[in-house]
Amino acid sequence: MTNTVSLCNLSELPRNGALGFDPFNEGRDTVFVVDTIHGPVAYRDLCPHYGSTSLPWRKNAYLNSAADKIICAAHGAEFQINTGVCVSGPCVGQSLTPVPIKIAEDGFILASIHQ
Ligand code: FES
Repeated sequence: MTNTVSLCNLSELPRNGALGFDPFNEGRDTVFVVDTIHGPVAYRDLCPHYGSTSLPWRKNAYLNSAADKIICAAHGAEFQINTGVCVSGPCVGQSLTPVPIKIAEDGFILASIHQ
């Protein structure tokens, strides 16, 4: 089943930053959005190294210190922001699961999430 959920407004997304969301009230963030120069991208908050591991060590800490890669705090895997492909760490070549998003006319980021 695919659900469309509103995550936040573009104005709430930090420039070159990331935010995590719990759209299904699971008690943890399961989707995150990263701001990029080409617009926001979204992924499931699951590391491909161990498929049920959440990436950040604290809320919204999805990016490395240079803010140029997505990072998994568990074992240091780094992922390209625009593709989600792991380029460093224990799961090189594997990818985060992308979440299709679109921007509504009112600026809200709408995600299509398959459950
Ligand atoms: S669980 Fe993410 S790098 Fe190991």
